[in-house]
Amino acid sequence: MCGIVGYIGTQAASSILIEGLKTLEYRGYDSAGVATISEGQLQRTRAKGKLKNLQVKLEGLEDPARLGIGHTRWATHGKPEEHNAHPHTDTKERIAVVQNGIIENYRELREELKAKGHEFRSDTDTEVIPHLIAEYLENPTGDAVLTEQSRLLEAARHAMTRLEGAFAIALISLDFPDELIVVRQQAPLVIGFGQGEFFCASDTPAIMPYTQAVLTLENGEIARLTPLGAEVYDFTGHRLKKYPQTLNWNPIMVEKQGFKHFMLKEIYEQPGVVRTCLETYLDTAWDTQSSHSPIKLNLPDALLDDLQHVQILACGTSWHASLVGKYLLEQVSGIPTVVQYASEFRYAPAPLMPHTLTIGVTQSGETADTLAALDMEQQRRSKSGNADYSPRMLGITNRADSSLSRLVPHIVDTKAGLEIGVAATKTFVAQLMAFYFLSLDLAYRRQAISLERLAEIIEGLRQLPAQLELVLESQERYVEELSHDFSETRDFIFIGRGINYPIALEGALKLKEISYIHAEGYPAGEMKHGPIALLDEKVPVVAIATKGTVYEKVLSNAQEAKARDARLIGVVPMNDPDAEETFDALLPVPNVDELLSPILTVVPLQLLSYHIAARRGLDVDQPRNLAKSVTVE
Ligand code: M6R
Repeated sequence: MCGIVGYIGTQAASSILIEGLKTLEYRGYDSAGVATISEGQLQRTRAKGKLKNLQVKLEGLEDPARLGIGHTRWATHGKPEEHNAHPHTDTKERIAVVQNGIIENYRELREELKAKGHEFRSDTDTEVIPHLIAEYLENPTGDAVLTEQSRLLEAARHAMTRLEGAFAIALISLDFPDELIVVRQQAPLVIGFGQGEFFCASDTPAIMPYTQAVLTLENGEIARLTPLGAEVYDFTGHRLKKYPQTLNWNPIMVEKQGFKHFMLKEIYEQPGVVRTCLETYLDTAWDTQSSHSPIKLNLPDALLDDLQHVQILACGTSWHASLVGKYLLEQVSGIPTVVQYASEFRYAPAPLMPHTLTIGVTQSGETADTLAALDMEQQRRSKSGNADYSPRMLGITNRADSSLSRLVPHIVDTKAGLEIGVAATKTFVAQLMAFYFLSLDLAYRRQAISLERLAEIIEGLRQLPAQLELVLESQERYVEELSHDFSETRDFIFIGRGINYPIALEGALKLKEISYIHAEGYPAGEMKHGPIALLDEKVPVVAIATKGTVYEKVLSNAQEAKARDARLIGVVPMNDPDAEETFDALLPVPNVDELLSPILTVVPLQLLSYHIAARRGLDVDQPRNLAKSVTVE
């Protein structure tokens, strides 16, 4: 939820910290701060609000420091005020700490430390950490495995053993001006290796401009970074052998490349994303004479054979993609499938079903609820002692380097490239592609589909990149003009049925999160059971009506809305006279196989919410109260 960055080396730390925080601002933007150490001074600067407020404060300040930490915050404990902004310090202001996560037992630690004379100055959970480290530095206790030279590491390690919760931490101390200590416990943290310098960050884009050599810390690890090297230990103090890996990310991915917002750039990247997915996961040489699956997911038979059920755990947009996945797994592969909000599943899991594939869907691979639900399910099944219930776990993620890939043994990498806009767009389409591949592979394995129908769907998939390009070319200008009509609109309804019902939910979520307009997604046939009472001339209805099993039904549902004076906008097949007659405004998409339509129908809805928000002058890429990856419960 928050972004952490740290630097130790030979360059000016503060500009590296600020540049790093810029790329991490998607993780939270309620307040920001940096702390650096040089010439016997710990200098701390913090500001409420977005990073630019901190930059204004830092302007003109000469800071020669070669060591520092920085933070951009998404508030959990304590309002987004300057006194709650990180870094936090101990009473004597000699230790500075930034944290991402939640320290669950902070209340009792705070009372304990207050009783020992520590003075607290914020309402945050994080502030207990510098005080606790100061306490252990002054009164060392326990099993000192480490040498005298690593007293700060030893004190920090002891402090970590007292903390409960999920967190990542970076810290520095005036008394140890050549050390940067970093910790990971269930929240992401990477270390970048340079020449005589080290970086740390919550996410790789922050260090990508400086190095491609990256070590991802595991849970329960603490590292001491000095200009001379990096040492990694577990929380019991034993040194671990760890080596960096080389990244294949490209710094260009974190630039807007001429687009006004990352969200618009990412919407336009969708044809390329679908192309990459097809190149990666489709066997181009396959035909109906082939004796193998056309899909190259490389998942083991033991994971997919003899399945009786699939259960999918996800949040937000990933949950919507999972609903499309459920439709495909049931209608194409013939496997009963349930989709659960990970946050709900954690506290009310359904009784175990046998021979079940559990899929966690998370673009970031870091969503705390999804990871915790998957972990719980994996353990519950392992402990059942019954082979029928043994865990078969699969992750679908856009970050093959994330916590998800350490938690579950098999991953489908959605290959959408880094997504910066808080509103998920291209990663949603990539998740849908993962579900097409998985459901087709399962259908082939189970002989639930004829080879002719399989070939037809594959041919349809191949056409999608060009069709997406057509939708973008033909619609952007019109959608931009249409958005002018909604400058005063306060409520929107999105309706769809069947495989496009989740697209109605996704259209409503996109509008809510970036334009702050109240929007509801509803199954079109359910409107008459209540929500139709909301309709009048002030509430536009967006209906997704593509050719297939429910086309006429959705048109009828749209007519019912029109009869209540609602303005009707239709995401409809191109050149369709029935649609032209029904709707007040048309967002046409190529007439494709119903099964493949969600890939196209979601795009006009993304554009519509983008243009409505941009026209209102809102912060499209960093909407209020949100963060790109939600690493707290
Ligand atoms: O990284 P995840 O896919 O697990 O994220 C889940 C949700 O937080 C995310 O989809 C959220 O709903 C987005 N802001 C939607 O645009």
